[in-house]
Amino acid sequence: MMSADPSATGERGAAARVRTLARRVFDRIDGAFDPAFGARANPWRLLGALSWFLFWVVCVTGIYVYAAFDTSAAGAYPSVERITAGAWPLSGLARSLHRYASDAFVVTMLLHLVREWTHRRYAHVHRFAWLTGVALIFFVYAAGIGGFWLVWDRLAQFSVVATTEWFDALPIFAEPLARNFDSDAKISDRLFSLFIFLHIGIPLATLAVMWIHVQRLQRPATTLPRPLAWGTLASLSIASLVKPIVSDAPASMGVEPTSLALDWFYLAPHAIQYWLSPQALWGITAAATAALLALPYLSRAARTPHPRAAVVELSNCNGCKRCVADCPYNAIEMIRRTDGRPHPLQANVDADLCAGCGICAGACPSSTPFRSVGDLVTGIDLPQKPIGAARDTLERELARIGVSGRADAAPGAPRVLVVGCDEAIDVVSLRNPDTAALTLLCAAQLPPSFVEYALRIGADGVLVTGCREGDCVYRLGQDWVEERFDARRKPGLRAAVPRSRVRVVWAGRGDRERLDRAIASFRDELASLPPERRAKLVPPKRESASRAVLP
Ligand code: HEM
Ligand code: SF4
Ligand code: SF4
Repeated sequence: MMSADPSATGERGAAARVRTLARRVFDRIDGAFDPAFGARANPWRLLGALSWFLFWVVCVTGIYVYAAFDTSAAGAYPSVERITAGAWPLSGLARSLHRYASDAFVVTMLLHLVREWTHRRYAHVHRFAWLTGVALIFFVYAAGIGGFWLVWDRLAQFSVVATTEWFDALPIFAEPLARNFDSDAKISDRLFSLFIFLHIGIPLATLAVMWIHVQRLQRPATTLPRPLAWGTLASLSIASLVKPIVSDAPASMGVEPTSLALDWFYLAPHAIQYWLSPQALWGITAAATAALLALPYLSRAARTPHPRAAVVELSNCNGCKRCVADCPYNAIEMIRRTDGRPHPLQANVDADLCAGCGICAGACPSSTPFRSVGDLVTGIDLPQKPIGAARDTLERELARIGVSGRADAAPGAPRVLVVGCDEAIDVVSLRNPDTAALTLLCAAQLPPSFVEYALRIGADGVLVTGCREGDCVYRLGQDWVEERFDARRKPGLRAAVPRSRVRVVWAGRGDRERLDRAIASFRDELASLPPERRAKLVPPKRESASRAVLP
């Protein structure tokens, strides 16, 4: 997996500098919003979910408004006027909400695009979401622009003519499309039926592509936390009440509209077209699309080797499906057993979809360090950082700080094991005579049994850290660590482990001082524990390999 920090990736060049700058801006904004919203409900981290929410607002208000809409060419404009005036209870509010939510949808979608780009999520495992995201831009604009036409006011007239003139710049139609709109007589009910068909059909297709867009992700964030959803709805409603959406004068095909209140969110391309030329707008559209489509294939991130994929070791896989449930990129499926063992299923990894995060190894029941095998081999593991090597490092580090084999709580400063991940602060730099360090691919690569193991060996406390809260590079690592440690998810931290001796601190690469403070305060709390609560747990009793693998 790629880091966004060019100094960490060796990236050079103007594009990398621009992206790093943009990333810093996003990080700053994230930080500014965190205190008010909380890291997990920060709208800047939930731009995809916000887009989904706005889409539903657009759908519901659209259906409501449609109930009072006249689908004939002559009746459309007067019916929108009646809707605006409140023909239906709150129909004027619904119309305004429909427009404002659509505008906000474009904004959140484009911000989401920029954010994913700053996080370098477009190559390898992200490619599918990126490419379907690019397709979504076209669907959203087509759905939105078509919506303006139904009002059949001067803005609609301007938009229809601009769109047809744009298409006419391509040598594909024998008869110019714009000719169909050069007089009021040509605006028929059939044409309006086509407009309505497009304005219902394209949003439905958009929904289908939105659904496809998140198919490669486990537990995609498509719903907003309730307070954020209500807050968004309230903001849109206030905007609707303060500045209700109204129509322009009715369309009149013989008369060219002069001054118009343009909706810049959707209709800016028309302005560019008339400012430059339809051909120039085609050129800009084609170049931007080509650049977006090329990123997953030609960028530096795309040329970095694909992360090494997880490997299943069948002799340690009992088919429990925990790895499938925890894999953030749906890279694992269960297939029929191939080795003749009594379990019906076995895990199978699709290497192309695997992000190399190690979260599956943290979920596997065979990853317990208490097993009495010399080399700890688990059911699913990462060749670049195997679980067995993690146990060796843990034991070596705890021996270094002098807690291995000690009989009771050591006097003096508490001895702490800090477990970190390769994507956040390098915890190896925290090593000192009282601090042992273990770094993993992701904090959720840590099987909770490792925490108990460290305490049983003699550590006073275990502190787990990873990316900044809500910013897990592997999407779900933080959720899984917290759910496992709260025993809400298997494998859970056993009840025998005193929670006062376990701490989780999310801190990004720039949060070193905060992490140092958190470690210091954890030490103080451990030092103040009464001796019986700081006492060493019963020393590790290694279980047999076969027992450990049972769910
Ligand atoms: C209708 C507009 C869009 C909606 C509703 C939408 C929604 C979402 C949602 C809900 C997620 C899952 C977030 C998570 O759980 O981690 C997501 C992920 C993603 N989106 Fe979008 N998206 C839209 C447009 C776009 C566009 C235009 C792009 C870029 C071209 C894009 C690129 C991505 C990428 C790369 C991911 C995957 C992140 C990862 O691999 O971890 N999306 N999107
Ligand atoms: S390392 Fe495991 S959890 Fe992570 S993406 Fe690959 S298969 Fe999924
Ligand atoms: S035993 Fe391990 S590898 Fe096998 S299905 Fe369970 S979690 Fe996956």
